[in-house]
Amino acid sequence: MIRVLFVCLGNICRSPTAEGMFRRLLEEAGLADRVEVDSCGVGPWHVGEAPDPRARRAATRRGLDIDGLRGRQLEAADFECFDYLLAMDEDNLAALQAQCPPECRAHIDLFLAFAGLPDTPVPDPYFGGEQGFEDMMDLLEAASRGLLDSVRERLEASS
Ligand code: 4NP
Repeated sequence: MIRVLFVCLGNICRSPTAEGMFRRLLEEAGLADRVEVDSCGVGPWHVGEAPDPRARRAATRRGLDIDGLRGRQLEAADFECFDYLLAMDEDNLAALQAQCPPECRAHIDLFLAFAGLPDTPVPDPYFGGEQGFEDMMDLLEAASRGLLDSVRERLEASS
């Protein structure tokens, strides 16, 4: 089993959408039972909340259903449980690096590195309009496809 955690600030816009997007790619690839996916926020403000309505609408437009997800905050156990902890922007990445215990062997990086875009954030769409959510979907989809390739290679190497 490979475990992937998507991380943003509030866990109501970018990371739950990434979770829904990547889960669908796994299902399409027939790998849903070999990869576990979750998301969280580095901040506490939206714990227990459903994704932002604008993220849910953007997801629906692409055939994804993220309505059932609920916000949670990053916790220490995540560094033991997950193989990949993928941050949406540099601030989220810095929070991961600051909290990561020295023995942690997880792959911690910006998510868009998997879209061939190193050092590039998924811009926070929270304070903007609907177009920001559409742009977010394009970035998340590109990175999800790259991540699927990486996960597939790992699974093949371990089988
Ligand atoms: P997210 O977006 O990190 O993609 O979930 C945000 C959600 C909430 C806030 C900021 C960003 N906030 O300031 O409450």
